[in-house]
Formats: sequence, structure tokens, C-alpha cells
Amino acid sequence: MRTKLIVGNWKMNGSRAVNAGLLEGIVAGLDGARAEAAVCVPAPYLQQCQDVLTGTPVAWGAQDVSVHACGAYTGEICASMLAEFACRYVIVGHSERRAYHRESSELVAQKARAVLAEGMTPIVCVGETLAQRDAGETVAVVGGQLGAVLELLEPAQVAQLVVAYEPVWAIGTGKNATPAMAQEVHAALREQLRARNQDAAPTVRILYGGSMKPENARELLAQPDIDGGLIGGAALKARDFLAIIHAA
Ligand code: PGA
Repeated sequence: MRTKLIVGNWKMNGSRAVNAGLLEGIVAGLDGARAEAAVCVPAPYLQQCQDVLTGTPVAWGAQDVSVHACGAYTGEICASMLAEFACRYVIVGHSERRAYHRESSELVAQKARAVLAEGMTPIVCVGETLAQRDAGETVAVVGGQLGAVLELLEPAQVAQLVVAYEPVWAIGTGKNATPAMAQEVHAALREQLRARNQDAAPTVRILYGGSMKPENARELLAQPDIDGGLIGGAALKARDFLAIIHAA
């Protein structure tokens, strides 16, 4: 069976002082949790995560990575650097990066490959805009985004992915997809995984993201193909993040 995974995506938030309280609050409230928990933080705070979270059940990771191994790419951070901070996860293809940094699905696929090459787990984000949903293109859009990754990776590597379905219109808006809407897309994504690697499909975790919060987490996480959450706003308060972890 798939262990549920709850990942906090801090985005560009935090400070050393605020993080210390948040991380300690999360660790202190985990007793009895059956889901796995992780936080993906801004790169300058990876050392702090490693210091505070080593030896706890909470994993940590980054929010982006370069496709390059090293060299003259000012401002970029490569996968081997992230691995030095013992990251378990790296988010790739978040819709904010696709939108603000023009990341294509092909680039996202290369990032996923770079993360795997350093022994970490990519969390591959896919999601449609409101206009695409209204046009009935949801499954085609997310299928294209995931398809680019599946095409570049070896079938065996597909088993090591985490996928996150995050409808763009639900991110940070307070409007979540209904459990039925999300389940429909998750099931389609799992079918697509199955076509590439039959054995991997039942084990790859597909997270839902987009205004998941304590009030709607239980119902979303009860869907058969929703294996966890990628949490933005609600991951910045220990109490809310913990409530979602315990709901899983
Ligand atoms: P949200 O963000 O939970 O604030 O909607 C989710 C995400 O962007 O990963």
C-alpha cells in the first residue's frame, strides 16, 4: 500500500527565527501520525532543516533545481549541492515556476532526471489553468506535462517519482478542487503511469495540491488515488500542517 505523504511547500517564505519555531512545532506534534511528512524550503534554509530535523521523522527538500551538473550558471543550484544537505525531495515544475520562469515540460523532465541521478526524489507538479479546465482540456494538459517526464525517464525510474496534481486555479486561492474532481485527474495520471511502467503505477504516490487545509484534507485524502498533499499556505502554521498530517 502507499503510505500517505504530506509535503509543505514553503515557497519564498521564512526566516531563521520563524523556521525554528515552525520546525520544532511540527516535530513536537507528530506523535501518532501515520503519514510521512516533509518540508520543501528555500535553499538557504536547508542547513537549518538538516540541523533541526536529522533524527526526526520529518524529511526535507528543495523547491527547484538546475538541469546542469555544475559550472558557469550564475544563480543556479545543482542537484549534487542539494544532495549534500541530505534532501530527500525536490519539487520540479511547480506552476509558479512554469508561469514566472517559463519552464517547459521538457525542462521539468530534465530537472526530474537530474534529481534522480543524485539519489533524491522529484515531486513532479502538473496542473491546468482555469481556462484549460473550462475548455475541457484538463486531462490532456496534465497528461502532456507528465508525459514529457515519462518519456525522458527509464521505466524503472518512473517508480521513484512522486507526482503532484495542482490545479493552477486552486493554488493560494482558497478554492480547492472537489474530491471527485481531483480523484478523476489522479486516476487518469495513474493510468498514464501504468502505461509506462505497470509495476510502478500502484506504488507511485500522487499528491493533491491547491488550497488543501485542515477543513478539506480528510475528504480529499480519502479518495482512492489521492496519496497525500502538497501544501502551501497551510504549511506555514504548525497547527494547520499537523492537522493535515493527522488527517492523513
Ligand atoms: P496552497 O499552495 O496550498 O497555498 O494553495 C499549494 C502549492 O502551490 O503547492
